Amino acid sequence: MGISLNTKYIGGYVKPHELDAIWPAVESAHKTLHEKTGPGSEFLGWTNLPRDFDKNEYARIKKAAKRIREQAEALIVIGIGGSYLGARAAIEFIRSPMYNALGDGPQIYFAGNTISPDYLNQILRLCEGKEICLNVISKSGTTTEPALAFRVFRALLEKKYGREGAKSRIYCTTDKSRGTLKELATREGYETFTIPDDVGGRFSVLTAVGLLPIAVAGCDLDAIMKGAADAHEKYAEPVQTNDCYRYAAYRNIMLRRGKSIEILIGYEPGLAMFAEWYKQLFGESEGKDGKGLYPSSMIFSTDLHSLGQFVQDGSRIMFETLLNIKAPKEDFFIEPDPENLDGLNFLSGQDMSIVNQKAMQGTMLAHIGGGAPNLVIDVPCMDEYSFGELVYFFEKACAISGYMLGVNPFDQPGVEDYKVNMFALLGKPGFEEQKAALEAKLV
Ligand code: PA5
Repeated sequence: MGISLNTKYIGGYVKPHELDAIWPAVESAHKTLHEKTGPGSEFLGWTNLPRDFDKNEYARIKKAAKRIREQAEALIVIGIGGSYLGARAAIEFIRSPMYNALGDGPQIYFAGNTISPDYLNQILRLCEGKEICLNVISKSGTTTEPALAFRVFRALLEKKYGREGAKSRIYCTTDKSRGTLKELATREGYETFTIPDDVGGRFSVLTAVGLLPIAVAGCDLDAIMKGAADAHEKYAEPVQTNDCYRYAAYRNIMLRRGKSIEILIGYEPGLAMFAEWYKQLFGESEGKDGKGLYPSSMIFSTDLHSLGQFVQDGSRIMFETLLNIKAPKEDFFIEPDPENLDGLNFLSGQDMSIVNQKAMQGTMLAHIGGGAPNLVIDVPCMDEYSFGELVYFFEKACAISGYMLGVNPFDQPGVEDYKVNMFALLGKPGFEEQKAALEAKLV
């Protein structure tokens, strides 16, 4: 069955000739992507990854995950951006946002995605008395946030298990030959997984970057890769029945119509981190050269009691892309209450998922009525296969959409500016000139 795009609820807003009018741009983006003639074409390894992934490395990932599940009560996954979000999104989507509390496999904590001392101290406290393993992930091997966290956790492991003991508990995922992390891993003899040169961070969830922590959480990697491989086949041709390309086309139509914010909507808390992954994917890929849709997200009905007011009634600058999960992992039957003191018997005698569906339908119609059109992506359920399919769907849509915008979807030049300022203010050697200029601005 698989995922599918439903454009019925955008139909009244976008006329059929608009899709026809924009289609040549979709075809051109497809050609640019497939013929590798666009900017960033050295980073297209993700396009065939579901078919051409390194089978030996894949087998090693599974083996290491099994070992970590035996070795550790807690796995600390250190990484930021594309070296962090995919794994966390998968675990919350496939297993649960409460995975750690449910006690079904090693707890998994994410570090190195913030410089907050409070957050770091809290994870360190959570590690007390537990058997620990580390998976440090950094493609460049030089990113400050994870490097700093790794320094702390490596010291913790060496203190707890000795240098030799720590060696068998530290797993590195990095570039095949470059970067400080690679050098350190080689020197210390840590087991190392490789991020292919031609796969950028935010497109790397289906490499060891995502797959090792996901496997440690007990997810079925074969089903994820099968979902992605099927999507690779399904979204290969530039035809108007290609849902992935139609999604890219509708996003661009929305942008041209002044809808400059896309809100990814879910009615499952397990989608919240998937939405964070989607935001990074589109935000870093498209938001450049003064262009791009601003990717945002909301989880309903939670956010209907906060930002819902704005969506219904505020500035008319957004459209919604709704991830419609057709079936929950496990339903909950609402029993009737003979006394009905709370007056809620009108909800009883049925599954909770029906109530959630009705809330979704009612909200969607209200928002459309208020001027916030909806694209709907139907998702059979939140399992491994759907996760793999959705990942490939959004990655390819992002590449097509980025080329339609005329940007390089595979670089992130804007991320450098904060780094230069941070290094200068912290007194990193080589940044002395900028330091004085920045400090003058702060007084
Ligand atoms: O998508 C990207 O390329 C970035 O978000 C990176 O993943 C992020 O900056 C982390 O980089 P690295 O893996 O080199 O530490």
